[in-house]
Amino acid sequence: MRVSRNFVSILTFSVFLTAAFETTVSAGRYKDFKVIKTKILGVHESSVLSQLAFKSGLDFWSLPRNGKNAILLCEPQQAEEIFKELTRLELRPEILTEDVSREIAEERFKIDQINSAKLKVANWENFMTLDEINQYMDEVVANYSNIVSELEIGTTTEGRATRVLHISTGPGKPAIFINGAIHAREWIGPPVAMYAINQLTEFYDQNSAILNSVDFYIAPVVNPDGYVFSWEQDRFWRKTRSLNDLNCLGVDANRNFDWQWAPDNDMCSLVYPGTAPASEPEIQGLQSFLQEHTEITFYVDLHSFGQACL
Ligand SMILES: *[C@@H]1O[C@H](CO)[C@@H](O)[C@H](O)[C@H]1NC(C)=O
Repeated sequence: MRVSRNFVSILTFSVFLTAAFETTVSAGRYKDFKVIKTKILGVHESSVLSQLAFKSGLDFWSLPRNGKNAILLCEPQQAEEIFKELTRLELRPEILTEDVSREIAEERFKIDQINSAKLKVANWENFMTLDEINQYMDEVVANYSNIVSELEIGTTTEGRATRVLHISTGPGKPAIFINGAIHAREWIGPPVAMYAINQLTEFYDQNSAILNSVDFYIAPVVNPDGYVFSWEQDRFWRKTRSLNDLNCLGVDANRNFDWQWAPDNDMCSLVYPGTAPASEPEIQGLQSFLQEHTEITFYVDLHSFGQACL
């Protein structure tokens, strides 16, 4: 199907804001976790490390790729062994972060500091909670009702709505769909999506030429359950929050589309694709929406970390 192809035309914006500290619930579970970086990998090295990465279930923030450093998170108990193994493979590991929990706490401290000084809901210098994002979307719908309308394209496992703003000056144009936070922990995606909303509405005068030729559908957070969980419980939560296995919740929403879907029995894996294509209500809703709206010719899925544009 034509629209399905767009599922793979994913533009990955990779802005990595250095993480941050103060102890929070989320921080505590990462006490003494390390972040390890390898040297820049060659073709052979990246394929060797990919094999290991795939088998180990380790959380690679930056996957082994030719011409890139691989970056991974590891538990304190594993760190020494992994470091030794990477050294043995001559990949020149370096410890980037000795205690990830401190960085998480510092990040939260900075967010709170910026928030205490801000005058508007959105100030583009900060990450935003789901409540702040929703409040901003409400204001945009109320203030710019001539060009903005709201759609809900699904309900999540925990009963949240997946909200989409349709920004349009009239029918008959092709459309661009933009979403953020399909991976919950990739917090820079939502503000990037919201900035696009801001530019098209508050700064309509400067940007009206764009809206004369295309419409936008913008969904800042397409995995809101995971997003909230990443703020409240686990900073590095990536998946949805569906219950497939008591010990390991969630599905890698990114891999749940009915497009080159491949089964995998490891429900604990960070890339677990779900029990079936579009098993996740979030993806079911998003996928149906994209298929029904044939005017959508371009799909931008905002991710972060890894400095990649896929
Ligand atoms: C909406 O309008 C109100 C009242 O003028 C204003 O305070 C608020 O900042 C506006 N919000 C947005 C997102 O434009």
